[in-house]
Amino acid sequence: MSEGNNYPKIAIDGPAGAGKSTVAREVSRRLKVKYLDTGAMYRAITLKVIRENIDLADSEALERVLRKTKIGLGEDKRVFLDGEDVTEEIRSSHVNELVSPVSCISPVRRHLVSMQQDIADQPGGIIMEGRDIASRVMPDADYKIYLDASIEERAKRRCKEQLEKGIALSLEEVAAVIKKRDHIDSRREDSPLTIVEDAVVVDTTGMTFDQVVDKVVEVINEGMR
Ligand code: DC
Repeated sequence: MSEGNNYPKIAIDGPAGAGKSTVAREVSRRLKVKYLDTGAMYRAITLKVIRENIDLADSEALERVLRKTKIGLGEDKRVFLDGEDVTEEIRSSHVNELVSPVSCISPVRRHLVSMQQDIADQPGGIIMEGRDIASRVMPDADYKIYLDASIEERAKRRCKEQLEKGIALSLEEVAAVIKKRDHIDSRREDSPLTIVEDAVVVDTTGMTFDQVVDKVVEVINEGMR
């Protein structure tokens, strides 16, 4: 497939900090297909749970919140919760800490997966990024890519990203948070982070951002499945 034509469904999965969002966004720009950051949806629901002080064990309260919550994904990375722009707040440490436990809850997953599948069914192609895209949301994806990197590399990237926003964090602290999220995301019962059999694994350790984007585009262009 050459850049700019066709309507591919592209799934990108991988652990926290593997660079999925930035890479997927650039690939979407190059291939001119829509981009969906599913992690942002889990983050928005988590923020709502925090704001409404919902007990995660109270499934009725949780279902009520899910029914009345509107998540909007706008241009330029903007994320809206019931119409309010929460783009920055969903990346805050209190959301970071709770997002993996909230993502383990089956009603939350069912609700968001259904929204994601509706989006995937719209014409025009999509590049969707998360943890269960190839395994659950789009098992029929044309291309399944698993982006990985060593824990040290992922922690370094996160620290650099935060430093650019003026927040200095220790490498050990960031690595510990990432490890904890990896553990929860890959061991939960409902659609854990997994590498599907027909995925192309790209280990991005030591690769520059441009090299990763080129590699992903190359995988898509070669039509590997
Ligand atoms: O990609 P991210 O770091 O923004 O994702 C935040 C959390 O959301 C992640 O720790 C697990 C959850 N998540 C998920 O369970 N399934 C997805 N498809 C995407 C994210």
